[in-house]
Amino acid sequence: MSTDIPDRKRFNNTIKYQRELFAALPEGARTALDLGCGEGLAARTLAAAGLSVVGVDADAPSIDRARAQDTQGITYIVGDVLTTEIEPADVVYSGVMLHHIDLREGLERFRSLVAPGGVLLIVGTARNTWRDLPREFAASVIDKAFALVKGVWRHGSPEVWPPPHTYREVERAAAELLPGSEYKQQMLWRYTIRWDAPPAS
Ligand SMILES: C[S@@+](CC[C@H](N)C(=O)[O-])C[C@H]1O[C@@H](n2cnc3c(N)ncnc32)[C@H](O)[C@@H]1O
Repeated sequence: MSTDIPDRKRFNNTIKYQRELFAALPEGARTALDLGCGEGLAARTLAAAGLSVVGVDADAPSIDRARAQDTQGITYIVGDVLTTEIEPADVVYSGVMLHHIDLREGLERFRSLVAPGGVLLIVGTARNTWRDLPREFAASVIDKAFALVKGVWRHGSPEVWPPPHTYREVERAAAELLPGSEYKQQMLWRYTIRWDAPPAS
């Protein structure tokens, strides 16, 4: 972990997919949440896109590092995303934290925090099963190539391993709890979910 490396030079598998998701933020979005923000790279990226951002994390040292790097007036809260009082936002992002909490409770909570017409963006990781073995082999090779070319930035926030749920379980839960969402099992040990909330009626 190093907070000396500029954000634009940081690279890891979560950041790769986070950048892909952030390439299509809804027009007119004004507010954002980074749930399980760690030391705040995604929060800073959303703030740089002009959004008013709140980052939430249960780990006080991570929030200390996030605050130390903030130049954009991001609001940081030390708290549990499931129980802390949080205002809904137009963009709700979560990076590799859903496996820290109950899957269904987490998805329902994240959904409830998306303002009408807003978007929920998730980068997550899950447990492999035998069906994932061919992908696992390919991922190992591609991951090494990325690491050689771009390096690997390591966050210093709490981790949980192995993830309690499988890719199939996440896909099924997303289909049920986030109707119309787009779930993708990505190559490099991540899945992404995008769910566009219905507009206000
Ligand atoms: C693997 S880290 C990811 C951090 C950051 N999103 C990133 O991509 O670098 C997971 C983060 O989720 C946080 N976390 C876990 N359970 C949480 C909860 N119930 N409420 C808030 N934060 C939580 C941990 O403290 C940790 O910082």
